[in-house]
Amino acid sequence: MTVAAIDEPRTYSRAMIWLHWGIALLIAAALATIEFREFYEKGTPIREGLKTVHFMIGISVLALVIVRIAVRATQTVPAITPPPPAWQTGLAHLMHTALYGFMLALPILGWLTLSAGGKPIPFGLPALVLENKDAAGWYKDIHHQLGEILYYVIGLHAAAALFHHYMAKDDTLKRMIPSASRSSR
Ligand code: HEM
Ligand code: HEM
Repeated sequence: MTVAAIDEPRTYSRAMIWLHWGIALLIAAALATIEFREFYEKGTPIREGLKTVHFMIGISVLALVIVRIAVRATQTVPAITPPPPAWQTGLAHLMHTALYGFMLALPILGWLTLSAGGKPIPFGLPALVLENKDAAGWYKDIHHQLGEILYYVIGLHAAAALFHHYMAKDDTLKRMIPSASRSSR
């Protein structure tokens, strides 16, 4: 083993790990709140409350993913041991880029939906566009479609992580779990 290999981090940094799982939890909560609203009649305070919480969680995801992309830009991704075939690494890059894309696009489209609908934006944020009910409908449709696709994308991503752990038996998943063996960063 070379000296460089000993110095290389074995896992993602503490910041990247907490951002990964924190954002995953927030996305689950954003999806749960918007799905559970269906159980309540239109106009009821609980349904409106669930929607408001959905908006607030979604905006928090946007803020955190911007931090995450900035942190990620300063760090190298730890190598997987044993190294997977190149096609899997290529697919993983595509999948991770798509996940970052969804984490940016969904909240921005939600923000655009409320802006064009003339609705208040959480945290006193400004409207991104002028009021236009037709445009609000389009943004909402795209937001909804992407939200539906996200379920499958997350499912594939989580299945790939489990495949690496249980079938390929490499350290892909361990690298994303808080662990004492990590060099402190
Ligand atoms: C990670 C972030 C987000 C995810 C995964 C997400 C996901 C979803 C999904 C799946 C739906 C469709 C539910 C359905 O029609 O059955 C939805 C609806 C909606 N979302 Fe989001 N969303 C996110 C962030 C946001 C943000 C930040 C806003 C606004 C600031 C927002 C505003 C809306 C609105 C207005 C609807 C339609 C609700 C209704 O009319 O009943 N979303 N979202
Ligand atoms: C449900 C359980 C989940 C599991 C088991 C899981 C597991 C993992 C693992 C093991 C990695 C490292 C992969 C590698 O380095 O090749 C990873 C990376 C990643 N995960 Fe997840 N994840 C989950 C949920 C999510 C969710 C909900 C999102 C966002 C929608 C997400 C977004 C990402 C992204 C963007 C990366 C790439 C990190 C980077 O290199 O910058 N994950 N995940």
